[in-house]
Amino acid sequence: MKRVFSGVQPTGNIHLGNYLGALKQFVELQDENECIYCIVDEHAITVPQDPKALREHILDVAALYLAIGIDPKKAIIFVQSDVSEHAELGWVLTCASTTGELFRMTQFKSKSGGKESVGTGLLTYPTLMAADILLYDTDIVPVGNDQKQHIELTRDLAIRVNAKYGKTFVVPDGRFMKAGARVMALDDPTQKMSKSAPNAHSRISLLDDDAKIKKSIMKATTDLDGVIRYDVENKPGISNLLTIYSALSGISIPELEAKYEGKGYGDFKKDLVQVTIEALKPIRERYEEIRHSDELNKILDDGARRAKEIAAPVMKRVRDSFGLGR
Ligand code: AQP
Repeated sequence: MKRVFSGVQPTGNIHLGNYLGALKQFVELQDENECIYCIVDEHAITVPQDPKALREHILDVAALYLAIGIDPKKAIIFVQSDVSEHAELGWVLTCASTTGELFRMTQFKSKSGGKESVGTGLLTYPTLMAADILLYDTDIVPVGNDQKQHIELTRDLAIRVNAKYGKTFVVPDGRFMKAGARVMALDDPTQKMSKSAPNAHSRISLLDDDAKIKKSIMKATTDLDGVIRYDVENKPGISNLLTIYSALSGISIPELEAKYEGKGYGDFKKDLVQVTIEALKPIRERYEEIRHSDELNKILDDGARRAKEIAAPVMKRVRDSFGLGR
């Protein structure tokens, strides 16, 4: 059995990008692997958060994990800040990294937006992410394409520490979806779909109602040539919609191109609205059942206890390797 670890930030409603790029894999992997899924609240505070809203979003993400089909009997679900070893190992790995490699991260560059001074957490985000992963002797990390560079850094840090201090960490591999690894914004298919983009119609959140889903898809940016063909370079909008349609329905992109040959974007979008509504409805219904149940907190308490049981001995190994404590 391989060990799998991944996380989602509680920074807003989970959208189709998060779902198709990462969360769908979480469910697929849980039957044959030992899976650990985290709600990474310490990552969320790398940018300012309203404390009350953050607490709510933590439970929202936990409920969504369950609603999409993660089974707490098979997988561990927990909140990052409930296991203090994350912050502890994060500091150790910050000291094992260099400012050069952190400044090179494209996510840092885009989130800092060229400003001269930004929160330090934005810069050290990748070393905390490396800690999340390495703390569990993780083999596989299912994430979206945007996290590839962070996974590379995690591997580099593990290899560097192992070379210097002897075998301390398992070197993990990223796992990326064939369809959906990078879902683009509906209003601007050159940008990735994001929780924090100001235009709500740039994304479809898993909890959007049918009317919102319809409006966002029907408004989605396409092009003037009117042909339903996958061509990311020249037709990024319709290519993104084909990716979403294919990932939600299981119909391959060539099959979709054949199905819609000679038809217009309007027909295609109407069908995509139906496919999306059907895919998200059961998730929304299950979410409503779970979100305010006592069961949710029990699952997170149990998850934190089980996660800590794995994390504590790994952290002891790290302290021994680095010579920390007595
Ligand atoms: N557009 C995307 N396509 C495919 N995968 C994506 N992921 C995020 N956006 C896309 C993947 O979702 C997982 C959880 O992401 P996250 O919440 O930890 O952080 P994020 O990448 O910062 O997500 P957002 O939505 O873009 O949030 P904001 O707006 O706050 O920056 C990860 O595996 C990620 O790869």
